[in-house]
Amino acid sequence: MTILVTGGAGYIGSHTVLTLLEAGYGVVVLDNLCNASLESLRRVERMAGRELAFVKGDVCDQACLDAIFAEWEITAVIHLAGLKAVEESVQQPLDYYGNNVGGSLTLYQAMRSAGVHRLVFSSSATVYGAEAPVPYREDFPRGVPSSAYGASKAMVEQMLEELCSVENAWSVVMLRYFNPIGAHASGQIGEDPRGFPNNLMPYIAQVAAGRRETLSIFGDDYPTVDGTCERDYLHVMDLAEGHVVAMKHLDRTGIQCYNLGTGRPVSVLQMVSRFIAVNGVDVPYLMAPRRAGDLPAFWADPTKAWNELGWRARRCLDSMVRDTWRWQQLNPDGYP
Ligand code: NAD
Ligand code: UFG
Repeated sequence: MTILVTGGAGYIGSHTVLTLLEAGYGVVVLDNLCNASLESLRRVERMAGRELAFVKGDVCDQACLDAIFAEWEITAVIHLAGLKAVEESVQQPLDYYGNNVGGSLTLYQAMRSAGVHRLVFSSSATVYGAEAPVPYREDFPRGVPSSAYGASKAMVEQMLEELCSVENAWSVVMLRYFNPIGAHASGQIGEDPRGFPNNLMPYIAQVAAGRRETLSIFGDDYPTVDGTCERDYLHVMDLAEGHVVAMKHLDRTGIQCYNLGTGRPVSVLQMVSRFIAVNGVDVPYLMAPRRAGDLPAFWADPTKAWNELGWRARRCLDSMVRDTWRWQQLNPDGYP
């Protein structure tokens, strides 16, 4: 079976591709490398001891997609390609709608033309919006997204629901990720943000490594356990395995969505303390004003993924911080 993975050279993609290769699938990666390096996939091939096919191209390019479906007999698509910087999306909404919504639309049209109807789509916890109670459950309605990034994910979910309601050949799983962190335990692949890291974990790792002076903790007056925001952090390898499990459930038609999270909230301060304690490093930090758009706390109810897919996050917080630090130490400047 050959799986097309769009965005497969990126952070979640590289771990997912490795897991697919190790499970025996053939893999074709389509990535325009706008936020990734081909080195990630070279390492994935070495780790898996198997080759994959790589196409440098854009998911918005219908001719490129048609050529892929003509060349390979694709069984299913895992669609991860997209832009993901929440703050940037507020400044550049058209880029986000064009890439994330336009790219998805082009991909699904090309899939339909090629007769490929099995899809796993990367969605996000952000689709629940600011008003949803915690923990988030899949039967909650989508909320009002606070950024163009969030809106782009919600729009694609809606597009897929409408499509599946009228074309019954489709088999679609939408995975709502919570906060993936960590790296493969070998330290060979991991998260390699370009420039200033937007997310907490790579920032902590770069401060610990001395690349940045101090971590700013955005807000210490939230109604949470210690005043800092709480999130549901899951190990990127658990998330990667979630894709393979979801793919195996694409034999029944229709559409489903699943939360992929641990179900346990962790505050920013708890995360920093764990990173320091487990890795024996210093992470200087200071309290800073709240970051616009942050919600105080959200985490998953992961029961549906367990009941229906048999998936749950298995790796603990200590593995997440240990693996992040190993990746950071072995690759102080990211991929060469
Ligand atoms: P990433 O930036 O590391 O990976 C995305 C990949 O897609 C990159 O390799 C990039 O080069 C590629 N890409 C972007 N636009 C493309 C296009 N038009 N054509 C071809 N390739 C393109 O990000 P990630 O963290 O691995 O995220 C993967 C997916 O998961 C994204 O859709 C993201 O929105 C979603 N997601 C991520 C998180 C998170 O916290 N990392 C949370 C929820 C959802
Ligand atoms: N934080 C800091 N300092 C930093 C960076 C982050 O205190 O330098 C805090 C944030 O304020 C937040 C928490 O750490 O309270 C987590 O922030 P991240 O930026 O790591 O993650 P978010 O929860 O804001 O967003 C992430 C992804 C989104 C996705 C969302 C839900 O970036 O794409 O998880 O899946 F939508």
